[in-house]
Amino acid sequence: MRELRIDRRDGGIEVWTIDGESRRNAISRALLRELDEHLARAAADRALRCVVLTGAGDKAFCAGADLKERAAMSAEDVHAFHHGLRRALRGIEEAPQPFVAALNGAALGGGLEMALACDLRLAAESAQMGLPEVALGIIPGGGGTQRLARLVGVARAKDLVLTARRISAAEALAMGLVTHLAPGPRLLDEAVALAARIARNAPVSLRQAKRAIDGGFHLPLEEALELENRLYQDCLGTKDRVEALRAFAEKRPPVFTGE
Ligand code: COA
Repeated sequence: MRELRIDRRDGGIEVWTIDGESRRNAISRALLRELDEHLARAAADRALRCVVLTGAGDKAFCAGADLKERAAMSAEDVHAFHHGLRRALRGIEEAPQPFVAALNGAALGGGLEMALACDLRLAAESAQMGLPEVALGIIPGGGGTQRLARLVGVARAKDLVLTARRISAAEALAMGLVTHLAPGPRLLDEAVALAARIARNAPVSLRQAKRAIDGGFHLPLEEALELENRLYQDCLGTKDRVEALRAFAEKRPPVFTGE
């Protein structure tokens, strides 16, 4: 059985649904393999403009590592899993397309770390989030300590990581961990609408803008501006830039091809 359900929509949008509701969409080895597979496919798919990542059902986006599978793992298996998790999350972060996480329920541990690797996060009003690892004798190891601190600041990240507490969607919104809330039944539609707003823009511009923000964030300003300049220059030679100017003059929406 597949662990990741892929639904291609109009406008170059895909919805990737973690399909393990009875295990609260926990991350298994099979899920990591499928994520790798689809990330490789996405990297080569120029028609794919934006991905929405969500979980099946209304209880959990993802409850973190599959703790039942973990209980039967050897130390080597755990190492391999951890390596695979880090690789998959980095793959999301480095994907050419923007990823929108639609947090339909609890996002805990590796589940929240997966959402943190996405570019934007929306949550159902009833969703809860947390990094409970220190209560389980480990620390967040899928980038959570780093990405959360970069996103919401060191003090808030320490509050969440050191207490292991779970926060409500409203608190997550207040600290900027998610950017929008929606009633549960409307969440996916709103996430797809956001993806559609993103996907109608020029594909090369989207890729370069994502790289500019992510790549420049921790550089000294001078270097970051230089990075932005290089990525900007790459856009100047595209057919889509010419098409945007022509469409403006002709008072019509542009038709972008990604070239
Ligand atoms: N790994 C494997 N199975 C998991 C799981 C996980 N991380 N989280 C939940 N499940 C399983 C439960 O064991 C249960 O299985 P069962 O029906 O065979 O007993 C099933 O999913 C439903 O769990 P339940 O707790 O009854 O669901 P809920 O909707 O009331 O609560 C959560 C959902 C996600 C809030 C809750 O399951 C939870 O807190 N899970 C643990 C999260 C966690 O600590 N993750 C590890 C981070 S490192």
